[in-house]
Amino acid sequence: MNIDVAFTPDEVTSSDLVHSVVVVVDVLRATSTIVEALANGAKMVVPVPSTDEAVRIAQNIGRGDVLLCGERRSLPIEGFDLGNSPREFTAERVAGKTLVMTTTNGTPALALSASARRTLIASFLNLDAVADALVADGGPVIILGAGRERRFALEDAVCAGALVNRVTSRVAEEPKLNDTAVAAAMLAQAEEADLPDLLRNTAAGRQLIDAGLGDDIALCAMLNRHAIVPELRDRQITL
Ligand code: MLT
Repeated sequence: MNIDVAFTPDEVTSSDLVHSVVVVVDVLRATSTIVEALANGAKMVVPVPSTDEAVRIAQNIGRGDVLLCGERRSLPIEGFDLGNSPREFTAERVAGKTLVMTTTNGTPALALSASARRTLIASFLNLDAVADALVADGGPVIILGAGRERRFALEDAVCAGALVNRVTSRVAEEPKLNDTAVAAAMLAQAEEADLPDLLRNTAAGRQLIDAGLGDDIALCAMLNRHAIVPELRDRQITL
């Protein structure tokens, strides 16, 4: 099995993804929130890059069954139903609902991965479940970090590395890794022990704390909270 990691979307093109199963990672917070929402019974998540497109799609689907959700600079978007805090996406709030979501880094990375053979959504909340799905798929695999404004994000790199290490420990033949995957695996070995502390000390973590959303970090650090593997098909993320 080949496993490549890309720390940011700028490291790949949509044609690079065509033959691979792509795993999109945005630990703080988009993919953590998508996993939490679907585990709490949301019908589907529709990721879109812009707020205008989100409003248009929500109107097309019909506002009764839809919740508009997302953030800009970590804060909820005016007029939307929910922000991007995974703590808001409770069963009471999202069960049976279609969530139209736009975020700064996560949803653009998901849009880029639309050309992939398959696209899975990963975070620390569902790490082992995704590792099992990748072993079952057989690859090739590209783990795509959403990054932060197209720059390296430590939390995404450690999550990608933790996934590489889990797949490697599950297969008989040593996977073939690109250099970024080797670096991510080494980072995860060094940093995975105390995830809440790691996440608090990242640029994205500090931005959340400054925005009064520091409590999201504890939830995003919960390893294997849900044994689910959300998958993007035809612009919709479902289980
Ligand atoms: C993103 O997609 O940029 C992040 O999820 C942002 C956030 O949740 O604050």
